[in-house]
Amino acid sequence: MANLKVNIGRLELKNPIMLASGTVGYGNEISEFVDLSKIGAIVTKSVSFNPRIGNEPMRVTETPAGMLNAIGLANVGLEKFIKEKLPFLKDIGSTVICNIAASTVEEYVECVQILEEEETVKAFEINVSCPNVKDGGLLFGNNLDSVAEITARTRAVTQKPLIIKLSPNVAEIWRFAKAVKDNGGDAVSAINTLVGASFDIYTRKPKIKNITGGLSGPAIKPVAIAKVLEIKRKVDIPIIGIGGITNWKDAVEFMIAGASAVQLGTVNFINPKASMEILDGIENYCMETDIEKISDLTGSFVIED
Ligand SMILES: Cc1cc2nc3c(=O)[nH]c(=O)nc-3n(C[C@H](O)[C@H](O)[C@H](O)COP(=O)(O)O)c2cc1C
Repeated sequence: MANLKVNIGRLELKNPIMLASGTVGYGNEISEFVDLSKIGAIVTKSVSFNPRIGNEPMRVTETPAGMLNAIGLANVGLEKFIKEKLPFLKDIGSTVICNIAASTVEEYVECVQILEEEETVKAFEINVSCPNVKDGGLLFGNNLDSVAEITARTRAVTQKPLIIKLSPNVAEIWRFAKAVKDNGGDAVSAINTLVGASFDIYTRKPKIKNITGGLSGPAIKPVAIAKVLEIKRKVDIPIIGIGGITNWKDAVEFMIAGASAVQLGTVNFINPKASMEILDGIENYCMETDIEKISDLTGSFVIED
């Protein structure tokens, strides 16, 4: 049996398979299909200080090889999250990473400060890259100074591993990864969704009320892999690869390009058991190809002259 353990900076995971923010709620719904104790980590839906109702419907639509969503960070808010959602996550036997969204830098800091006291939360993933909200979101994710400031200010109030989730909607993602590293972040997640739009040709109206949404699913996989590779080649920081993974081969591909671990998002809606199948698949791949430690795969790409 291969050793499937991976380290994302100081954070050790039993394997590299993680469930992506916003696609498995707070873990309870998917637990009917997935033995969460087998998963490397679960990342919660973005939580903000106050509850958010999100955008008006329609909020999702299917696209060729993917989906567009403009949920608008609907969530129960920090107080309810701690009271009602964390108790379930406490006993799942997997690493719980809390994803945080905010409209101001102060709100990020306040959320991290409060959750710092919660034993169940093992690390933070800071969402600076949601394309579907008017305040915060991409206004932060597209701005190097903001990403640097959010990293530094949240770093100052937590001892836990700090992961910053980057936007692909920028020209040079590596500069953002460098800003995270330079300001004390432990790792980056790449990528959040790409901005997309779709129209109904008969009504000529946008298919989602917000007009634009975040594109996810298999359509974005090559973009995501290119972003992971770009960061890997330019910045020495652990990377969590995300974007369009639907099977174990996709997960392996991301690791070869430079990811230390991967997150599964849209695939959870297509096949809620996918994470279990992907885990089995990478385990078999390691056996088949005599890989003793899966972490050896990270950044193992071969580029010939
Ligand atoms: C319906 C939906 C809701 C999402 N909500 C969040 C969120 O709250 N916070 C966040 O950081 N990312 C969110 N994401 C982005 C995913 O975590 C992931 O980065 C993205 O979907 C790309 O991965 P995928 O192609 O495997 O889905 C959401 C994605 C989808 C499809």
